[in-house]
Amino acid sequence: MTETAIAVSGLRKTFGDKVVLDGIDLDVPAGTIFSLLGPNGAGKTTTVNLLTTLTRADGGTARVAGHDLVSEAKAVRAAIGVTGQFAAVDELLTGQENLRLMVDLSRGSAGGDRVVDELLERFDLVESARKPASTYSGGMRRKLDLAMTLVGGPRIIFLDEPTTGLDPRSRRTMWSIIRELVADGVTIFLTTQYLEEADQLADRIAVLDQGHLVAEGTPGELKRRMPGTHVRLRFTTVAELDAAARIFPGASRDDETLTLRVPSDTGTKSLRALLDRLDEYAIAADEFSVHTPDLDDVFLALTGHDTEAAL
Ligand SMILES: Nc1ncnc2c1ncn2[C@@H]1O[C@H](COP(=O)(O)OP(=O)(O)OP(=O)(O)O)[C@@H](O)[C@H]1O
Ligand SMILES: [Mg+2]
Repeated sequence: MTETAIAVSGLRKTFGDKVVLDGIDLDVPAGTIFSLLGPNGAGKTTTVNLLTTLTRADGGTARVAGHDLVSEAKAVRAAIGVTGQFAAVDELLTGQENLRLMVDLSRGSAGGDRVVDELLERFDLVESARKPASTYSGGMRRKLDLAMTLVGGPRIIFLDEPTTGLDPRSRRTMWSIIRELVADGVTIFLTTQYLEEADQLADRIAVLDQGHLVAEGTPGELKRRMPGTHVRLRFTTVAELDAAARIFPGASRDDETLTLRVPSDTGTKSLRALLDRLDEYAIAADEFSVHTPDLDDVFLALTGHDTEAAL
């Protein structure tokens, strides 16, 4: 039987008359990465704040590490680590002092120096360990922040947009640190706006939009909910787009960008047949690209289009 690290049922949160979370259900098995995906203002940080006992819910129940969020808040806090969206690093202290402070706050200082040194090493911060954090770059700050979260060895870690604003290299470093943690059996609850990040890291993804989870599943399952592979043809005139739309009746068109999406597979045979057909009717496409669905499509379909439809 798999142990459940986080179990959420009917979680609700309102600010004034604004409903931010309108009944959220989640289940995160221990030792997995769960990613909550959503645009700005979707309620990701609110969810993290609720599950880490920083804010109180208006309804619903949740258990984290087997403890009730409300009646056993202290036990929940002891079991988790949180890296918030905005770095909790003290700017005036050096990296080393920031870590030392966390060690002292967490459980006294036995072996504290070793813990600090190990973390500095692991996060590649040894060289800057004695410099004030105010001199750190954004990426170094994020790393220090995560290192501080790991003091005390929490088994469940909440990461609120851990890689926002990081360059691709720092993002990859962060990813590999997250993967190492999971390999050690830690559970990660990660929020992100980056589909690629969720795709790369998460065992399961939930998409949050306007207070509701609009989709939940493995990255593969979410991708399968999308229309399949298609070829995108872009034209220079509406007349050409019209002509092409007539010979591919199954295609969908976008008049604004003068593109036609023709369902296809990626085999050379089907692609050649498609191009031959264009030739046959003497239609020239300005641009031709083969598109396999990725999480961006899922996100657009689930949030963008739905949002528009709701307006
Ligand atoms: N303390 C608060 N008081 C009033 N409204 C709030 C408060 N905290 C959050 N909100 C509102 O709740 C909604 C969700 O905010 P939240 O910070 O959870 O979004 P988010 O998904 O984390 O967005 P982002 O990607 O920008 O970090 C927003 O409309 C926000 O304005
Ligand atoms: Mg946020």
